[in-house]
Amino acid sequence: MNHYYNPVRTIQGAGSLHTLPETLEQMHLTNRRVLILAWSETVFAHPVFAKLDAFQLQTSVFTASNPTIEQLFETYQATRSFSPDAVVAIGGGSIMDVGKSLCCLYQTDLSDAEELRTYIQAGRFGTPKVRWIGVPTTSGTGSEVTCWATIWNPSKDAKRSIENQANYAYAALVDPELTANMPLKLAVSSALDATAHAVEAFWAKHTNTVSRALALQAIRTIMGHMEDLLCGKPEAHEAMAQGSMLAGLAFSNTKTTACHSISYPLTMHYHIPHGAAVSMLLAPVLELNAPCVDGLESLLAALGVSDAAMLQQRIRSFLQRSGQPDTLRGWGVAWEDCSSLAKLGMTKGRADNNPVEITAENIQGILESIY
Ligand SMILES: [Fe+2]
Repeated sequence: MNHYYNPVRTIQGAGSLHTLPETLEQMHLTNRRVLILAWSETVFAHPVFAKLDAFQLQTSVFTASNPTIEQLFETYQATRSFSPDAVVAIGGGSIMDVGKSLCCLYQTDLSDAEELRTYIQAGRFGTPKVRWIGVPTTSGTGSEVTCWATIWNPSKDAKRSIENQANYAYAALVDPELTANMPLKLAVSSALDATAHAVEAFWAKHTNTVSRALALQAIRTIMGHMEDLLCGKPEAHEAMAQGSMLAGLAFSNTKTTACHSISYPLTMHYHIPHGAAVSMLLAPVLELNAPCVDGLESLLAALGVSDAAMLQQRIRSFLQRSGQPDTLRGWGVAWEDCSSLAKLGMTKGRADNNPVEITAENIQGILESIY
């Protein structure tokens, strides 16, 4: 089956946040009530907010990374009575995950975080009545063009997905001016996360022709500009914004595979930033998958490497040069934890989407290889 669907309008390029008023007009909102969810108060200094007089606004700042069920419930509770017709989520993946989750939750009466936990676990999200616009301020997650949100449940050692095909954004405003001031560490780890999205979309069991074409272009764009990013060249941000969006469009229809699956416990237990965790896994998983990757030569050419060992070298150099550890030991992981982390790395829907079967045993080998 070769199927691709993505209904998100993408408005990409410097200054695209300025199109927010007209984009909201195009949505024909009944009550013209808009919740603006942002990663920082500083976002509201942008001149576009002086041009939204025609709408009733509520603003909310959400600063946490990797949002938990409790944090999501707090924001739901603080914003539900405003009853927005639209949510504009301005920030990294965490903000967009919260924004899109809220759209799925407003029509349900939830009294506490426990009830939300049960609701998410049951996974019966109705068609959302509230639509959202994604405005990424990092170039990596692609969350502005996917229909699922990751919500963390640390007390149960798990991550949960709020997922609904009817919950794609109305539009994504991908404005590289918003990402230009990212700290180098974040810029590099986000770019590597986007690279992983594209690589995993290319080889996923659930891949398709459109995703594979988007994935190769995303990889070429990102890897072709990593040096510029590390050298502080401003034009790199435009390329990363494009590459990240293309990678998001690619994996919106394939989901991710072993790299993401194995990375989640590393982030949950050792707080290794998502992009760094995923990127360290990319080369060993390429090594494992290589015999089963259709079009391996095109993938390696897009990455600009001849094999997994060369990719490992390049990624380690990107992490080091941006001031980040490039091994599990460097991130403070204990050697004896590799076996329990391996068991937790079998994430449903990701591990079983890998072209080569992964088991707790081969995950442990992979973790030890990047120790
Ligand atoms: Fe990711």
